[in-house]
Amino acid sequence: MDFSFTEEQLMLQDVARRIARDVIEPSAEHFDRTGEFPLDNIRVLGENGLMGIEVPTEYGGAGMDPISYVLAMIEIAAADAAHSTIMSVNNSLFCTGILKNGNEEQKQKYVRAIAEGREIGAFALTEPQSGSDASNMRCRAVRQADGTYVINGKKSWITSGPVARYIILFAVTDPEKGARGITAFMIDTSRPGFHRGKTEPKLGIRASATCEIEFADYVAQPEDVVGEEGQGFKIAMSVLDAGRIGIASQAIGIARAAYERTIEYVKERKAFGQAIGSFQMTQAKIADMKCKLDSAMLLTLRAAWLKSQGKPFSAEASMAKLVASEAAMWITHQAVQIHGGMGYSKEMPLERYFRDAKITEIYEGTSEIQRLVIARHETGLR
Ligand code: CAA
Repeated sequence: MDFSFTEEQLMLQDVARRIARDVIEPSAEHFDRTGEFPLDNIRVLGENGLMGIEVPTEYGGAGMDPISYVLAMIEIAAADAAHSTIMSVNNSLFCTGILKNGNEEQKQKYVRAIAEGREIGAFALTEPQSGSDASNMRCRAVRQADGTYVINGKKSWITSGPVARYIILFAVTDPEKGARGITAFMIDTSRPGFHRGKTEPKLGIRASATCEIEFADYVAQPEDVVGEEGQGFKIAMSVLDAGRIGIASQAIGIARAAYERTIEYVKERKAFGQAIGSFQMTQAKIADMKCKLDSAMLLTLRAAWLKSQGKPFSAEASMAKLVASEAAMWITHQAVQIHGGMGYSKEMPLERYFRDAKITEIYEGTSEIQRLVIARHETGLR
């Protein structure tokens, strides 16, 4: 067993850390306050290989491994979680989905544009009545005699929906077959029949735009099908396995930022004549924060390592996301508490970390769904 990182992994971490410090951190408060989409910053991430980290260089990516992805995500999320949300959808949900399941033409055409950060990608699974119960979707794609599909329906909570050029959509092609009757399609949002709905006002990750999308007689060509007809649900689930490593990394980044600020603060802030870090009640919180942070890191690196070895990692990705997201929520909560009034104030980023952390327990599978995946894996029961 080797706990050290390779030179390439550390180099990418350094690139991400530099962009996080010089570009993202100084603008994070502005984007959180205004809710504007940080398009220029996303272009910088793309130009530096961070929008397609695991994408082979022949498709415009950085050609790096899953551990590099974890390290880079942590750096960006520590500066601003909303930027890392946009980054994770492009990397894990969009590029992974097409690389694993798309044909050569789809890889050349769609992955390159997203991996280079020239276009924004999205992933459309959730509907107003189906979130955790993902296969219970209604969006329909009806095959015509000429081989095209006519798509009608609504998807909700689509991250990057307001700005996405390309979207992987999951729609029902055979309602009789349940999860086996779902197919994945590549959607070009510039085509007729695609509409964007209301943008969601959100508690956190405010600069990552989220909206409803609607299809009204959108015509998909046979070459827009990703993978095989009827394989869509499995594609969505396997893409989410990879995505959960990204969200675990995001949670670690948010938690680390809150933790580092707290360590500085407890050494400087004095009460009753001494630094508050020398009180045992503060020390207990610091120790628990550090243990949760490192546990999350180790689980996330294990899942990424399994993925890099081509081994199954579904349950391990769920464990990483569950532990990391709950750690982020707990650590940011304690960080606000230790900072007192300053933690509650918008003059410091602690309250932003606290608001941003919450989403990691919800999207790409709630904590309840991660527990279900882990328990099913352990018991073999349904
Ligand atoms: N990889 C590949 N195939 C998988 C799989 C996986 N990880 N998990 C399940 N499958 C397959 C099963 O083997 C099964 O195949 P067969 O029909 O051949 O047997 C099929 O999929 C159906 O599986 P289940 O019967 O287990 O499905 P289920 O209806 O019980 O649901 C679930 C399982 C784990 C609850 C799943 O619905 C789930 O993960 N729900 C959460 C959805 C989610 O994470 N949504 C997030 C939205 S996207 C998002 O958040 C993005 C964003 O904004 C950033």
